[in-house]
Amino acid sequence: MLAYGFRENGGPEQQAFLDVPVPEPGRDELLVRVRAAGVNPGDWRLREGAYGIAGPAVLGREVAGTVVALGPGVTGFAAGDEVFGGCPGMVGGWAEQALVTASFCAHRPDAVAPEAAAALPVAAGTAHDALRQLGLAPGATLLVNGAGGGVGIAVVQLARRAGLEVIGVAGPRKHDLVRRFGGTPVAYGEGVVDRVRAAAPGGVDAAFDLAGGDALRTIAEVVDDRSRLLSVADRPLVAELGGAGVDRDRSTAVLAEVVGLVETGALDPHVTRVHPLAEAADALAEVESRHAEGKVVLAVVA
Ligand SMILES: NC(=O)c1ccc[n+]([C@@H]2O[C@H](COP(=O)([O-])OP(=O)(O)OC[C@H]3O[C@@H](n4cnc5c(N)ncnc54)[C@H](OP(=O)(O)O)[C@@H]3O)[C@@H](O)[C@H]2O)c1
Repeated sequence: MLAYGFRENGGPEQQAFLDVPVPEPGRDELLVRVRAAGVNPGDWRLREGAYGIAGPAVLGREVAGTVVALGPGVTGFAAGDEVFGGCPGMVGGWAEQALVTASFCAHRPDAVAPEAAAALPVAAGTAHDALRQLGLAPGATLLVNGAGGGVGIAVVQLARRAGLEVIGVAGPRKHDLVRRFGGTPVAYGEGVVDRVRAAAPGGVDAAFDLAGGDALRTIAEVVDDRSRLLSVADRPLVAELGGAGVDRDRSTAVLAEVVGLVETGALDPHVTRVHPLAEAADALAEVESRHAEGKVVLAVVA
């Protein structure tokens, strides 16, 4: 079958269409005919070798599709079901058929398009888990560093829904977007700490970083209680600064909760670009620019 991935670890020049066998579902796995697949920064990090997976390998960590077969002992799903979820080992999704982890898979309601559902496990799932970990009370102020990206726009919406005040640090191009979802936009770069303090005169109770590096180091200055500083973009640095990564809850329950919010209009996954699989390179380049807006998705089989 047709798939897209990389030949060996390295830059975009290693990306290629691959002809690979249809995988066999094992325990806790489903085989799905892929309708849509999410594109994430983790895909180019995987290609570069950050997760220790050498090529050739198929990219793609989340998909929506139709169940074709169930692994031994899998219950709760049947052939023909429309589902979405995360791929085992966070690989293999950009293909005509892919494995999905049954315990990190949920049914897709008719009202939620495959492209929207495929964008949920990584971004909305991470946003959900970060907010649960922070456990902020309504009225608290959360700073989101990188508020206009895939995870950022989900966390802004879920935080507002939980009654939080949200300072959304983003490039000027995304300020209207942050505002539309109820956050107060602040531009990053020189002077950002002063701008955050002006936007949140009562202080910032917690920060969730999606940018890493110097941007994280700078933003950490506004968080007095470092147990309330989280980052999924730079785990070594956030640990050095006294904060933490996000403990992911890769479960069906979380996916069912977030897709329910999408179904009722309470959460917009904000899919801004849908590319056919033939344009996987363009899709990944957009995300690798680190300035994509919302979510980029591949449409695989109609
Ligand atoms: N471990 C996990 O479970 C997990 C899960 C999901 C994501 N992640 C990681 O989390 C990060 C974000 O993921 P994503 O999908 O949201 O990526 P994304 O869609 O590419 O968004 C990244 C955002 O960072 C912003 N940004 C760039 N430079 C910045 C700076 N100096 N200060 C503040 N913001 C800046 C960009 O905004 P502008 O366009 O406005 O510049 C962009 O919106 C990635 O590193 C990803 O690998 C980890």
